[in-house]
Amino acid sequence: MTKLTVTATKAIKVSGTKHELVIVPLFANQALSGQSADVDTAAGGVLQRAVDIGEAETKLGKVTAMIGSESVARILAVGCGESENFGAKAQRTVSAAVARALAASKAKAATFVADGVCADVDSITSFMEFLARDTAMSCYHYTATVGSPKPGPVFKKLTVALGEIISTAKAKKSLQNGLAIGQGANVTRELVNLPGNVCTPTYLAKEAKALGRKYDSLSVSVLDEKKMESMGMGSLLSVGNGSDEPSKLIVIKYQGGNAKDAPYCLVGKGITFDTGGISLKPAKGMESMKFDMGGAGSVFGAMQAVAELGLTINVIGVVAAAENMPSGCATKPGDVVTSMSGKTIEILNTDAEGRLVLCDALTYVERFKPAEVVDIATLTGAIIVALGHEATGLFANDDDLADSLTKAGLASGDEAWRLPINKQYDKQLNSKYADMQNIGTGSAGSITAACFLARFTEKYKWAHLDVAGTAFQSMQKGATGRPVPLLVEYLRQK
Ligand code: BES
Ligand code: MN
Ligand code: ZN
Repeated sequence: MTKLTVTATKAIKVSGTKHELVIVPLFANQALSGQSADVDTAAGGVLQRAVDIGEAETKLGKVTAMIGSESVARILAVGCGESENFGAKAQRTVSAAVARALAASKAKAATFVADGVCADVDSITSFMEFLARDTAMSCYHYTATVGSPKPGPVFKKLTVALGEIISTAKAKKSLQNGLAIGQGANVTRELVNLPGNVCTPTYLAKEAKALGRKYDSLSVSVLDEKKMESMGMGSLLSVGNGSDEPSKLIVIKYQGGNAKDAPYCLVGKGITFDTGGISLKPAKGMESMKFDMGGAGSVFGAMQAVAELGLTINVIGVVAAAENMPSGCATKPGDVVTSMSGKTIEILNTDAEGRLVLCDALTYVERFKPAEVVDIATLTGAIIVALGHEATGLFANDDDLADSLTKAGLASGDEAWRLPINKQYDKQLNSKYADMQNIGTGSAGSITAACFLARFTEKYKWAHLDVAGTAFQSMQKGATGRPVPLLVEYLRQK
């Protein structure tokens, strides 16, 4: 993966400098900005001519590529619509279009000439952040297990020329923040895309240790099966019973606040492959269950971003990692296990395994006396029926926490939609043979899954993000890096 740099300057230097690529925003009701006009002159007037003959359109998100001169080799004109409508939504469309064009370009460096962009400082700040984040994410290219990979994006350096729209210091900070979030999301994508025979619980534990070495502010510990057994995590351990890969509980601590500040906890489902166990899944499409550690992956990406941003709070990431396999030692339908909380669980379907690893991880985090706990899990296929691949499912036992996550989703363009959890649904989990069973009796599968988790989170403010529809869409499209932007935005608001 090429390493991206992002920076800002007051004015683009045209004379005596060679530019591989300059991006120029075009507004419907505005002439070329001062700096854009300078670029155009250096490029022999090609841009203005393209505008005049209607070839370079101002339609929102429309990108027109042109070849310039020796000093400005390429110009990308990007349509920005009417300047008075250039709010958050339009800015995101432009940012995404620019990022896509940069990733597709042969140029290694580009300058975005932003001096003509008129919007308030806050909105420009967020535009800068989106530009850096989207560019970083567009340039991601999976090669880890490809013998002869196709060449990926070569783009390396984005500079924004600001004129007077915002101070360079502010812009640089925003660009860095966006880059941190984009790179965090890319860490997530890489882990989530790896096949199940590479990305095992042991591999995740090693990656966590490596992350801990990379950042002084992160410290990592790993609980092995023996340790988990001594702590009574019978539910988590029951999931890995059928696998030769040992389960791991990974703890990544970030200290950015005072030692005694209550931490925010992120708890990720890390099923490195979900066959369903004895309740075996059908063969068709089973390969996509390598993505079943998407929640865990997002904990890694969010922790890296938090460390990069240097947030002044404490955050603890916990990953419950196991492989769900059928074998002679595997858990069987009807088996009853005892969770760390002491509650017993009748496992009626071994394919409802995410909640079984999460419940013990959720009990484990009680020891940190957390301010809030958010778990992230590719938990149910039913959430795709309800919300498709657009919004992440959100469940919470606290309205303020639910609201702050909803807001963080909107602000980061990584949206979540709340669904209910209450008694009417919860009663589906009552069992004759244990304190509860691990599946409901009928409909509303995502809600009954959340109700199951809610039985283990009564001691703190908790939310659950069901990312089965958003962490990935298909084998072809691969991991999305969601909900890293949402999580980081939520933590930044603290
Ligand atoms: N990992 C799956 C959920 C899933 C489905 C994630 C599709 C991503 C895409 C989960 O462990 C599972 O198998 N859930 C079952 C629950 C059922 C047995 C109650 C499901 O959704 O069918
Ligand atoms: Mn399953
Ligand atoms: Zn699963």
